[in-house]
Amino acid sequence: MFISKFSRLGAQAVKELSKAPQTIRSKNPCFAIPRNAYLEALSCKLFSTTTSGNSLAESEESQKISVTFFDKDGEQEIKVPIGMSILEAAHENDIELEGACEGSLACSTCHVIVMDVEQYNKLEDPTDEENDMLDLAFGLTETSRLGCQVIAKPELDGLRLALPAASRNFAVDGYKPKPH
Ligand code: FES
Repeated sequence: MFISKFSRLGAQAVKELSKAPQTIRSKNPCFAIPRNAYLEALSCKLFSTTTSGNSLAESEESQKISVTFFDKDGEQEIKVPIGMSILEAAHENDIELEGACEGSLACSTCHVIVMDVEQYNKLEDPTDEENDMLDLAFGLTETSRLGCQVIAKPELDGLRLALPAASRNFAVDGYKPKPH
């Protein structure tokens, strides 16, 4: 009696286990179409790689902000990665923002004018060194900043910057000193 009950339970367990793969197959879309193990694995790999690839691209995109530069020739919108300076971003996108000292706060050729006061107020306060250099900038305004000191952050998405028509770096602007 005990043995027959035991063997009945065993037979039931085997039956249940043999059903299990079918259940998994029907619930998992990765296994729905292919018929052999290699294709199953390949399709799952391709499927999941595509999904994570999209997520990666989306997350990279979401880590950039949109910045538009305005100059005498018009406007140009670029995507700037969070943490990158406006000067670096401008150079990467062939925007004519000087930057003679390459961000070492020894010039004012990276002068930009923030076009929206709300955006300007979201920036970190300028340091004394930046203010000293800004004092030398051509066409200084209330919302002027040095591009090398403005770092992209999510709150600045949609930042609009005007490029002054000239800078104090005459040689860069094409000014040729007349001989005395
Ligand atoms: Fe010289 Fe910004 S590049 S101060």
